[in-house]
Amino acid sequence: MVVVVEGVRLHLSHPVEYAAEWIGQEEVMRELLAAWMALGEDDLPMNPRITGKPGVGKTTLAYAAAKRLGREAYIMQGTVDTRPEDLIVQPVVEGPGTLKYVASPLATAMLRGGVAILDEANRMPEKSWASLAPLLDSRRYVESVVAGIKIPAHPEFRLVCTMNEDASTFDLPEYIFSRLQPQIHIDFPEESEEKAILRQNLPMAEEDVISLVSEFLQSAHGSDEPYTVRDGIHVGRYAMRLLEAKRAPDLEHAIRHAIRQVLGEDALRHVL
Ligand SMILES: Nc1ncnc2c1ncn2[C@@H]1O[C@H](COP(=O)(O)OP(=O)(O)O)[C@@H](O)[C@H]1O
Ligand SMILES: [Mg+2]
Repeated sequence: MVVVVEGVRLHLSHPVEYAAEWIGQEEVMRELLAAWMALGEDDLPMNPRITGKPGVGKTTLAYAAAKRLGREAYIMQGTVDTRPEDLIVQPVVEGPGTLKYVASPLATAMLRGGVAILDEANRMPEKSWASLAPLLDSRRYVESVVAGIKIPAHPEFRLVCTMNEDASTFDLPEYIFSRLQPQIHIDFPEESEEKAILRQNLPMAEEDVISLVSEFLQSAHGSDEPYTVRDGIHVGRYAMRLLEAKRAPDLEHAIRHAIRQVLGEDALRHVL
């Protein structure tokens, strides 16, 4: 699809569409939806950041919240070499001597009134964040240097960032951090919720697979290990394959084998 902004044709990105449902932990879902509310005509939504260990469900929460609002969701993966133009508009060679301008998923969400998820945004360098500064305050626009235009955010546009709590990230400058409020922190789920998440993500698994993976995860959470439900899903998927391929004599061996290969020898101390 093409839209024209200040006389410049912009080719839009596609929204993301996949099956994802948020299970349990209704509190963080309610906080995110609350942060996005506009309390009247002159009020602006907030730009929250979702934090938590890798694999706790940050991206899933952001996406599921967008879907609960019935909005299109656009996901942009932040990396150490994300440039300002990657975030806004990129020129693409179309033919000999002709360029077309492609709006990023973020700019597309701004134009269409969708939800932009800046995923693992803390990996982005300061220069890229600086280009978003006017979007994150009451100005609500970005400037594309490449296309020479100003792109205003649709009133329905919503933004959320996810940030991993690990060492591999930049420390954001304070002026950016202070614009990404509030912080919504996702913790490990309760046992019953975690089992429900495992069941949804391992539809082929018998209940004994779910129980063993859940016991392992709960034990690891008790020691504040970084293992999350995502790791549990990988362990369960691999263990079932090991059994099917007759690479393990029984489920318990398969689970141990899978944990060793997915998470390493150390993780085995959480197997009862
Ligand atoms: N509360 C939840 N409801 C549904 N699925 C979840 C939940 N928490 C985690 N998951 C599942 O765990 C996996 C990792 O979640 P993800 O959102 O990618 O984590 P993160 O973005 O924090 O690294 C996904 O497969 C997701 O479906
Ligand atoms: Mg993620």
